[in-house]
Amino acid sequence: MGIVPVMKPFEGSVFLVSGASSGIGEAAAVALRQRGAAVYGLTSSESTLASARERHPEVRWLRADVTRRSEVDAAVAAVLAEARRLDGLVNTAGIYTFAPLEASGEEMMRRQFEVNVFGTVFLAQAALAALKDSKGTIVNVSSTSAHKAMADQSIYAATKGAVESLTRAWALELARHGVRVNAISPGPTMTPGIAKIPMPKEMFEAAKEQILRTVPLARMGTSEEVAHWIVTLADPSVTWLTGQIIGIDGGLGVA
Ligand SMILES: NC(=O)c1ccc[n+]([C@@H]2O[C@H](COP(=O)([O-])OP(=O)(O)OC[C@H]3O[C@@H](n4cnc5c(N)ncnc54)[C@H](OP(=O)(O)O)[C@@H]3O)[C@@H](O)[C@H]2O)c1
Repeated sequence: MGIVPVMKPFEGSVFLVSGASSGIGEAAAVALRQRGAAVYGLTSSESTLASARERHPEVRWLRADVTRRSEVDAAVAAVLAEARRLDGLVNTAGIYTFAPLEASGEEMMRRQFEVNVFGTVFLAQAALAALKDSKGTIVNVSSTSAHKAMADQSIYAATKGAVESLTRAWALELARHGVRVNAISPGPTMTPGIAKIPMPKEMFEAAKEQILRTVPLARMGTSEEVAHWIVTLADPSVTWLTGQIIGIDGGLGVA
């Protein structure tokens, strides 16, 4: 049996991945690194940064809360001071709190919009000049619930609807600078964040049952299966795709 060559299509490129300390973002950071990119991972707290660094010493770790513009600006400045370029931004940092309309309090609404929408915008703004210089790429992370209505997810869905609107508009705005902007739209994916959703065990099991009934491929996805498409959209060989939202959802989006 011959030796399978390790493909390094991202060799020489520099990526910044938000939400890299857990789940889909962590899998994307690892996959980009394995394919040759220098990867900077962003996380919001010192404690998650320390454990992420221990698991993935090959990733360079930075702390910034994406809802704080000054911290985001400082993190991007640190990347540029060290790496001198930025070829890709992956906006994975996100939170999800599910609740019916009457139980959706102001703090819960504001926090989800701040992390999922403002955080995505702050990072894109901070990275913009460097991405124009490199003719780089942005990959945003939406959710099936942005375009397939689901009860008790209206606020979260609205934040992801915003992410999809940003993606399409930025693709148009940045095309003349050679910057491609796309998004993935994952369906139910088993991640540490999903496992931590505060709900009684029996409700969690019932939700999983519901997923098995409604997802055509009849299971939850894995972080790696989803991250594969982040990496694919960012791949330098993908030159003619921008403004697209790709559903990575076991068929849920069309069911
Ligand atoms: N899992 C799913 O079923 C699913 C489905 C559709 C879409 N998505 C989307 O996919 C993305 C990742 O989800 P996941 O399930 O992998 O989540 P996760 O395991 O909870 O990871 C979330 C990541 O976001 C980071 N983060 C949260 N708030 C932050 C803040 N204020 N500043 C900086 N970083 C912050 C977390 O880092 P620290 O806490 O370390 O700061 C963590 O790395 C999210 O955008 C989510 O909406 C997930």
